Amino acid sequence: MTRVATMPWRQPAPGRATIGAVTANSTGDGVFLRACRREPVAFTPVWFMRQAGRALPEYRRVRAGVPMLESCTRVDMVVEITMQPVRRYGVDAAVLFSDIVLPLKAAGVELDIVAGRGPVMAHPLSTPLDVARLPELEPDQVGYVAEAVRALVGELGETPLIGFAGAPYTLASYLIEGGPSKEHARTRALMRSHPQLWHDLLDRLARLSATFLTVQLEAGAAAVQLFDSWAGSLAASDYAEFVLPHSATVLESVAGFGAPRIHFGVGTGELLGLMARAGADVVGVDWRVPLDEAARRVGPTVALQGNLDPAAALGSPESLARQVERVLACAEGLPGHVFNLGHGVLPETDPDQLTRVVELVHERTRR
Ligand code: CP3
Repeated sequence: MTRVATMPWRQPAPGRATIGAVTANSTGDGVFLRACRREPVAFTPVWFMRQAGRALPEYRRVRAGVPMLESCTRVDMVVEITMQPVRRYGVDAAVLFSDIVLPLKAAGVELDIVAGRGPVMAHPLSTPLDVARLPELEPDQVGYVAEAVRALVGELGETPLIGFAGAPYTLASYLIEGGPSKEHARTRALMRSHPQLWHDLLDRLARLSATFLTVQLEAGAAAVQLFDSWAGSLAASDYAEFVLPHSATVLESVAGFGAPRIHFGVGTGELLGLMARAGADVVGVDWRVPLDEAARRVGPTVALQGNLDPAAALGSPESLARQVERVLACAEGLPGHVFNLGHGVLPETDPDQLTRVVELVHERTRR
């Protein structure tokens, strides 16, 4: 049986069937991986952060009555939810359905994901003892993740699967603040007033993230993304001193797999150069910095991912198309561009708008 036959819903993207040398080859090394490596592509690849989730009615149906973190432990659900946006949108990569706080929970940290709010800790970290007690993650504790990744690799055929983990700073901010926070003030205060404790905490979180990424890569994930969603709350000097070394440890720990490593944060315009220096192959850019400017900030050795404003998908199809064109115009001539939103899909997004984005990007960039 051919791979295509196992994915009857997957329509070939425009141009894919006709441009032999630069299309997916037998190792599944298609446009997404090629763009990450800054190699020539037949068209610009597209995927969306949070593509699996509440914007899809089929997701809401599957998830009904099942708590978020429980759904991440059920292999059949993880596989189904990860596949949904691939079928629906025709994106060029799948992203594992899971969450950045899942490995903390699996290791034994008491927490929950509260609908409409986000991760909430039963006991926010505040003392050195709390840090010393933070449990290590053993790969066996996330065996269901490895199982889901293996099942997905079979199911996806040539569409690559992106694994991910939270970066040490973003995980630390949840542990310290106790839940979602706008300012991350307690986190920044602890970082500067107790630097030794801080580095001990981030060392531990770097090991946890590295283990979680390694589990996914060993099971067959083709690329990984390190989400440092809240790093944008930091001054560049603090990022360089307190965060970069630990994110670099995580990225370095998985370099040997040869899979592209994407490094993403929100509001990180001032940090883009440092985030590239931490060891990324691809830097994710939010919607605030145009990609041509971002390219100057990261330098010529990394690819870029982004950066359509997620709110653009809430506007009219015409205004959405104009904003897609604007992103593509700024990306013109970049050696490696993976089209994405500047942050996650907003839950109120009409899925048809995202299907249009995929079609438009493929059509306009076909070479
Ligand atoms: O499609 C995908 O991107 C894969 C799945 C994914 C989820 N979370 C599923 C999820 C990914 C990659 C994440 C990463 C994640 N989780 C991040 C980094 C990305 C980012 O947005 O910056 C962060 C900060 C979290 C923590 C978290 N988990 C938040 C802030 C929330 C939202 C809370 C809410 O309900 O608004 C979650 C919950 C969550 N994670 C949902 C999903 C689909 C929604 C929960 C639900 O459907 O009930």
